[in-house]
Amino acid sequence: MTTNAELFERYTAILPPYVHPLYEEPISIDHGEGGYVWDVEGNRYLDFFGGVLTTMVGHANPSVVAAVQEQAAKVMHTSTLYLSEPMIELAERIAAISGIPDARVFFTTSGSEANDTAILLATSYRRSNQVLAMRNSYHGRSFTAQAITSHSAWSSTSLSGLAVNFVQGGYRLRSPFRHMDDEEFTAACVDDLQQVIDMMTAGDVACLIAEPIQGVGGFATPPDGFFGAMQKVLANHGILFVTDEVQTGWGRTGEHFWGYQAHDIVPDMLTFAKGVGNGITLAGIVARAEVMDTIKVLSFSTFGGNPLSTAAGLATLDYVLDNDLQANAKAMGERMTAALRPVVERTPWIAELRGKGLMQAIETVHPDSIEPDAGRAGAVLEGCKRRGLLVGKGGLYGNAIRITPMLDVTADEIDEGVTALVETIEEIS
Ligand SMILES: Cc1ncc(COP(=O)(O)O)c(C=O)c1O
Repeated sequence: MTTNAELFERYTAILPPYVHPLYEEPISIDHGEGGYVWDVEGNRYLDFFGGVLTTMVGHANPSVVAAVQEQAAKVMHTSTLYLSEPMIELAERIAAISGIPDARVFFTTSGSEANDTAILLATSYRRSNQVLAMRNSYHGRSFTAQAITSHSAWSSTSLSGLAVNFVQGGYRLRSPFRHMDDEEFTAACVDDLQQVIDMMTAGDVACLIAEPIQGVGGFATPPDGFFGAMQKVLANHGILFVTDEVQTGWGRTGEHFWGYQAHDIVPDMLTFAKGVGNGITLAGIVARAEVMDTIKVLSFSTFGGNPLSTAAGLATLDYVLDNDLQANAKAMGERMTAALRPVVERTPWIAELRGKGLMQAIETVHPDSIEPDAGRAGAVLEGCKRRGLLVGKGGLYGNAIRITPMLDVTADEIDEGVTALVETIEEIS
C-alpha cells in the first residue's frame, strides 16, 4: 500500500516549493462518495472543503459520473472548430441563468483564464489598460490574474502591462472603515472608489473586477447592496463591472444563485470555474454580446468547452437545479451558522464568523485583539482532521478557516462537521 508519507516525500521532491499541501502530515485522497473521502491509508473524512469548493455536488456523484463516462465513451475532445452539442447546450443554459442580457459565453479551462479573458475584453472594449480591483482580492495565477490580485501571500509579481488600482472593499475587519455601520461603510468605500478614479487614473478606466465574497481572502463579505452602490460611480464613467463568481456561483451563497445578486446590480461580465464541473476542468466567461464581440480576430482555447467538461457541467447544473441545492445551501448554511455562532461568540481568539450559505469562515486572532494568529488557524485545521473533518485555510494572513460543505450536504453531515469543529475550537486555549 502506498502511504501518505511516501507520497508527501515524492511530492516535495518533484513539485516546486510554492505549491504545498495542507497539514503537517498531508494526505492523499484515494476515493470519495457523496460528502466523504477516504485517504490511501483507509482513513475516512467528512469533506467540508471539496478541493477548494470544486467538488460541489458530492464525490462520485452518480449522475455526473454517468454523464462523463457516457461522453468519454463517445468523444472526449473536438474543440470549438466543431459543433459540440454539450458545449452549445451548456452555453445556452449558462447564458439564460446568468442574468446578463443578450449574453454570450466563452469557455476556458480555468478561472485564471476566464479572468484573463474578461480583462482582455474590457480593455479592448474600453480601449484602456486601466483596471480597478478590490483590496484583498484573488483572481488566479496567470500573469494578468496576478496583476489584479491584491494579496501579498499570493502575488508572485508586480510586473504587468495593466495599470491597476485597488479600492477599498469587503474585508471589513481590517478596513479603516470597520467601525462604521453598513450604510456608512458602503458610502466610505464608494467615496474611496471615486477618489481613486479621480486621483489615481488617467481618464477612461476599463473595468472594476470583484469577487462578491472574497474566496482566498477568507470569505470577506461586504454589506448587501455594496456593489450596486459602487456601480453608480462606475456607470458615470462608463466603467464595466466584472463579477468573479468562481467561488460564489451556482447557489453556494444560499440567498442567490450568483453572488452579485445580493447587490442590486447587473454585471457586464461574469466569470465562473471550480464547482460547475464538479471536479472536471471547466470555466468560462459570460458577457453582453456587445462586449464579448469586441475581439475582431480569431480566438480559441483548445480545451475550452471540451465535450467531456461540458457534459460534466450539464449534469452538475441539472443536479443543482433539479434538487434546488440553492435552497439547501440556504437552509444548511443557516443550520451551520446557528450551531457555530455561540462558540464563536465565546471564543476570544475568533474575531468573527462570516460568509453566507455554504461558504463560511472564521478568522483567528490573538485573544481580544484583531492581531492575526495563523498558528490557531493551523491548530483548528489539524484538530478537525484528527476528528475526521476536512476544512480549508485562507485569509490574508493564513488565519481564516474556510468551511464549504457540498451543496447537497445533509443536516446530519452538518451536525457531524460542526461537532468536530466545535470540539476542536474548545480544545484550543
Ligand atoms: C475567486 C477566484 N477567481 C479565480 C480563481 C482562479 O481559478 P483557477 O485556479 O481555476 O485558475 C480562483 C481560484 O481559487 C478564485 O478563487
